[in-house]
Amino acid sequence: FMKRRKKWSRYPPGPASLPFIGTMFSINFHNPHHSFGQLQKKFGNIFSLQNCWTNLVVLNGYKTVKEALVHKSEDFADRPHFPIYEHMGYGKNSEGIVVARYGHVWKELRRFTLSTLRNFGMGKKSLEERVVEEAGFLCSEIKSKEGKSFDIHVPINNAVCNMICNIVFGDRFDYGDKTFKKLSQLFQNSLNEETGFLPQLLNVVPILVRIPGVPQKIFRAQKELMDFIDVVLDKHMKTWDPAYTRDMTDVFLKEMEKGKAAEENGFHYNNLRMVTMDLFTAGSETTSTTIRWALLYMLLHPEIQSKVQAEIDRVIGRERPPTMKDQASMPYTNAVIHEVQRCGDIVPVGVPHMTYRDTELQGFFIPKGTTVITNLSSVLKDETIWEKPNEFYPEHFLDAKGQFVKPEAFLPFSAGRRACPGEQLARMELFLFFTTLLQKFTFVLPEGQPRPRVDGHFAITRSPHPYLLQALPR
Ligand code: HEM
Repeated sequence: FMKRRKKWSRYPPGPASLPFIGTMFSINFHNPHHSFGQLQKKFGNIFSLQNCWTNLVVLNGYKTVKEALVHKSEDFADRPHFPIYEHMGYGKNSEGIVVARYGHVWKELRRFTLSTLRNFGMGKKSLEERVVEEAGFLCSEIKSKEGKSFDIHVPINNAVCNMICNIVFGDRFDYGDKTFKKLSQLFQNSLNEETGFLPQLLNVVPILVRIPGVPQKIFRAQKELMDFIDVVLDKHMKTWDPAYTRDMTDVFLKEMEKGKAAEENGFHYNNLRMVTMDLFTAGSETTSTTIRWALLYMLLHPEIQSKVQAEIDRVIGRERPPTMKDQASMPYTNAVIHEVQRCGDIVPVGVPHMTYRDTELQGFFIPKGTTVITNLSSVLKDETIWEKPNEFYPEHFLDAKGQFVKPEAFLPFSAGRRACPGEQLARMELFLFFTTLLQKFTFVLPEGQPRPRVDGHFAITRSPHPYLLQALPR
């Protein structure tokens, strides 16, 4: 008992806690990374919070986050329980990947996802060919705007969402398709539903979310999204032919066929729903938001846009579609894309982790079962690492000879056991979409428009405020 008390005396410091509500009023849940930045100044790189009776520890700065996620990877590999997702079917034995507890089933499903994404030779086309093809559809859509000013949000969402549709369902939607339009809107709304004080409160006082009718009322878009996935999966199963693999869903169905052992490894219908939902939620909005930041930075820095276009003209030319092989010969473009990810800072507070066992970090004691927030924003903007942390400065990723370099603190995909398994796909999409767009168009701010804001809107991801642009064919 005395030993344990001694350990607790080394628990990280934090703001004063109020009865019942804890420290929830110390955080602006619509801008948590800013609140964390202020608390970091006061309490240091590791501080504690309390959401009602749930203990949280927030990790800040590259050194601290790396030590936890990389050097003590398993200690920090668990996830807390999220009652707000229960109404969609997330729960014991059907956790998917993103919110799954650390353990055997999570490992199996993660390995399955990584290897299916890697070996995506299903059907006739490779993943790279499909991205290039989708980039072509995106360009046609943009061309149809005939140089007039428009908001590029929906076309980009459609292109990126189509990549997940391709992988999961083996098919894409036309941009004008009614269902697709609805789907795109639902994604947007579902992220907003998860943001703010109320969802945080429901997560720590789960009894509220179990009141009949409450989740349906608060999480309407999430529910509709799940209904959509159910309809498509149902159709898919009815047309399934085990002799032929169309997509990731078919590979999953094949695993399910393997019987009891496969079921114990997590390959059952409920997890198919959850993994599908995970890929849509984790893989669509993230990538499309990054591309929207990329175009916004190009509007605000036309000289950087011209330099990227000059490199594209030199290495690829104006006609041939880009390939991933080109990336190695395009250090400037590569640096710009990395700087977009650093500055755009699109998952500023990461996805919550939880300690898997009692652990120590920089002399602090963090008990098993503590929710841990990895403040990725504080890593990507760490003042001790980056020369100009708050400016768009592609030179962060270039050496004196103009060659591409990647500083270790570049962690937009996080690190360690839970690091994003979609990184390779995301990198491919970012490079191929971005170079195709700048090969075919020059993006400019419409005359008379106010300068777009660069502060971003937080809803799990940090996305640009709406802006208009003109795409002038090159
Ligand atoms: C997890 C970032 C694209 C699938 C994550 C995490 C981050 C992240 C920060 C949390 C890691 C942690 O818990 O420490 C990004 C960014 C993307 C992107 C910035 C695009 C620019 C994708 C794509 C996919 C994907 C395209 C899949 C097709 C996942 C999954 C997880 C995850 C399944 C959960 C991993 C786990 O819990 O084991 N991502 N992601 N992501 N991401 Fe991504």
